[in-house]
Amino acid sequence: MSEQRRALITGISGQDGSFLAEFLLEKGYEVFGLVRRTSISSLERLEGFEDQVTLLPGDLLDASSLMSVLEQAQPHEVYNLAAQSFVPTSWSEPVSTAEVTALGVTRLLEAVRHVCPEARFYQASTSEMFGQAPAPQTEQTPFHPRSPYGVAKVYAHWATVNQRESYDRFAVSGILFNHESERRGQEFVTRKISRAVARISLGLQDKLVLGNLEARRDWGFAGDYVRAMWLMLQQDEPEDLVIATGVTHSVEQFCERAFAEVNLDWRKHVETSSRFCRPAEVDQLVGDATRARELLGWQPELSFEDLVRRMVTWDLHRVRQIEEQSHTAAPDLSR
Ligand code: NAP
Ligand code: GDD
Repeated sequence: MSEQRRALITGISGQDGSFLAEFLLEKGYEVFGLVRRTSISSLERLEGFEDQVTLLPGDLLDASSLMSVLEQAQPHEVYNLAAQSFVPTSWSEPVSTAEVTALGVTRLLEAVRHVCPEARFYQASTSEMFGQAPAPQTEQTPFHPRSPYGVAKVYAHWATVNQRESYDRFAVSGILFNHESERRGQEFVTRKISRAVARISLGLQDKLVLGNLEARRDWGFAGDYVRAMWLMLQQDEPEDLVIATGVTHSVEQFCERAFAEVNLDWRKHVETSSRFCRPAEVDQLVGDATRARELLGWQPELSFEDLVRRMVTWDLHRVRQIEEQSHTAAPDLSR
């Protein structure tokens, strides 16, 4: 009988980490997750399968913790999904973003090289690296990042390529375009919209304030994208790939679709404020994933319309649940 495959996921508590963990468990992997200490638990997204994964304490800021986690997990595959991933925060905290999102990757690559050099390595790169480069963007498109986050990810991308070229390691960079789900953080625009749509339709709020409505993104479903991450590590040769749907929509179009799900006119509820605009914007992202289709046989399964419906439906359910709990919960006088 062949040995059970072991995977280590950094960022397991995040949107992608949770989908990837579920996906790998279904494939029969033993799954380890690196988690950092937070003042309240950030493991909500692992609900339902938390007891099937082994969580190990560590932080991309702390090289010794990475060595220790790798020694315990002895993974065949390492998926580096951990990052400070919210673009606006990268302007307010550019140095800490670089520490985690850029240098953190070097710390992890070096730790893998010393502890388990045979492990295959996946780096979560991003379409933010393309920034203002003309669309559609492919593996050949030159990078022109427009945020400190994008700059940090370009460093991490090249650090990964360089490890591959220097040490003949299986290390790849997946250049993923925006992907969303009901597990998306509430500060990202799609989830901000789907949640507000739910609350507005249930009479809990009236307005939604956004920034630039004209920005265009190539939005896919996170569940489809973690499949591509795994496929990239199963190839005979390491290769960096663009993963995208090839279809782009504006923030305004996302609003229109999401409000239409609950039969509301988005124009009556959406306002804009410069508070949510960025010092430098990425106007349009559209990925060309031809190479991934050819090499991996990968293509997205959930359409834009189904993605929006899925998110709004989930938020309607969730907001109702929270409302019901807040009306029935007895006050906890023990604290
Ligand atoms: P996410 O939900 O923001 O999750 C980020 C994860 O990183 C969380 O688990 C977070 O842990 C962890 N983390 C942050 N700082 C850390 C540190 N210092 N040490 C260890 N862990 C740390 O992001 P996501 O949407 O799942 O994205 C996953 C990865 O793909 C990220 O690298 C992101 O930049 C990249 N990416 C995302 C997209 C997208 O559209 N979603 C597209 C391209 C690339 P806590 O729970 O403790 O905060
Ligand atoms: N967050 C947010 N909030 N964005 C807004 C808002 C708002 O109120 N109003 C308009 N936007 C616009 C942003 O200016 C941006 O052009 C677009 O909506 C998408 O913003 P986000 O959802 O925050 O995502 P992002 O594209 O900046 O970054 C995400 O995708 C990258 C891949 O391209 C993140 O997941 C990154 O980690 C990821 O690398």
